[in-house]
Amino acid sequence: PRAHIALDRKAVVGPVRRRTFGSFVEHLGRCVYTGIHEPDHPTANEDGFRTDVVELVRELGSTTVRYPGGNFVSGFRWEDSVGPREHRPVRRDLSWHSLESNQVGLDEFARWLKLTGSELMLAVNVATRGILPALDLLEYANHPSGTALSDLRIANGTPEPHDVRMWCLGNEMDGPWQTGFMTADDYGKIAARTAAAMKAADRDLELVVCGSSGSGMPTFGDWERTVLEHCYDHVDYVSCHAYYQVHDGDLGSFLASSLDMEFFIDTVLATADHVGHKRQSKKRMNISFDEWNVWYLEEHKASDEVNHEWRHAPRQLEDVYTVADAVVVGNLLMTLLKRSDRVTSASLAQLVNVIAPIMTEPGGPAWRQTTFHPFAITSRLASGEVLRPLVDAPTYPTARHGEAPLVDAVATVDDGRAAVFLVNRDLSEPARVTVDVRSLGLSRVTEALTLADADPYAQNTLADPLRVVPAANTSAVLADGVLDVELPPVSWTAIALG
Ligand code: AHR
Repeated sequence: PRAHIALDRKAVVGPVRRRTFGSFVEHLGRCVYTGIHEPDHPTANEDGFRTDVVELVRELGSTTVRYPGGNFVSGFRWEDSVGPREHRPVRRDLSWHSLESNQVGLDEFARWLKLTGSELMLAVNVATRGILPALDLLEYANHPSGTALSDLRIANGTPEPHDVRMWCLGNEMDGPWQTGFMTADDYGKIAARTAAAMKAADRDLELVVCGSSGSGMPTFGDWERTVLEHCYDHVDYVSCHAYYQVHDGDLGSFLASSLDMEFFIDTVLATADHVGHKRQSKKRMNISFDEWNVWYLEEHKASDEVNHEWRHAPRQLEDVYTVADAVVVGNLLMTLLKRSDRVTSASLAQLVNVIAPIMTEPGGPAWRQTTFHPFAITSRLASGEVLRPLVDAPTYPTARHGEAPLVDAVATVDDGRAAVFLVNRDLSEPARVTVDVRSLGLSRVTEALTLADADPYAQNTLADPLRVVPAANTSAVLADGVLDVELPPVSWTAIALG
């Protein structure tokens, strides 16, 4: 196919927000234990954290990290995870049917975040606890000193407050799988009361109320409306969660997954604005897209380690990603950028081992999955402002998302530089793409990288961790204000201009 894209320097969507490049660490499977934390590993630091993983997290360029769940948070007692490690209890985690040793808790995790240069985003347990434990956690985490819980934090070895700004009011409360799940009405009421109490302690907190666990949820839309009718004045973000996978070998539909993400975002914003309008509120609700990724959920039901014995850190949700998965991840990130006016925070779910861009082997190496690359490159190159591109591309029919453009694009522009991100969804043909960049006033291609492979199912594994890496795209040429590039079939590309 051939596609033409026009960029207008004045067609600004919004700023490139660093929080778009957030990720997620849940106490699930081997994300924490033998993922980021492995005291016996040759690279472990004094806290037991793997420094080889820290280096990869820095290279990934992830920013805000959501913690400690996920479904895990709905059975979590935060007090278990602070203080002397030898006194911390082992608990059953009902959501993932495993044992939690609590050897990594808030204070250790905050130290790990400092090594990675990331911001902490904390979730409180709204499902099976109440307002007081949430307020206690807030006091422990953020109060400087001179109160029972801030002094406890200091006694536990953390003199400075963690100063956590973003807080999630529970997790996926619309999902029947959630321990203590609720109706929208029940959740809206408890979330409003919890939010109001937390803001009484600190009115500058940024609070995220649970939206839908996916656009396919039977309550989607009604859930957001009901919850926001209760919470609108007390919260700052409504969350969206979305996972995609190839269904029945239909790669064409899968490659168009970002169309569902666009629909999801647009529908949530329309619903939130409707509630805001009815309340005659001047406030505009934004989205925290705090779980998104490719996840082969259906396959896991059959293949995950059976954990009836209540094991600690079993191998769960260890998806091995393909080139096609990486193209979709890159495209989903482009979609989040395209809505950066209202999607003001996001978290790739998750970070290490569990549906993750980074994998580890206990006692062994850490490596980059295919999906690592589009995320890391976008985080590195996107800066300044996001431009809304005019994309003129042929379409193809998909079973799940209707007609989909064969080529998708987004661009960012900053002082003296810009970046164009592109995907070609065609399964067999390269795409020839021209991009009119005259309004940007830039003259040369400074970097052009493409992720593609003759085999769209190629993967990086422990045995072959460098099978899929981005390659220079030597076809990218900028002349007379027109960027010309060829995109291989099923590919993701980033082009930096200067
Ligand atoms: O990210 C894995 C799980 O997906 C999370 O625990 C949950 O919130 C979602 O269902």
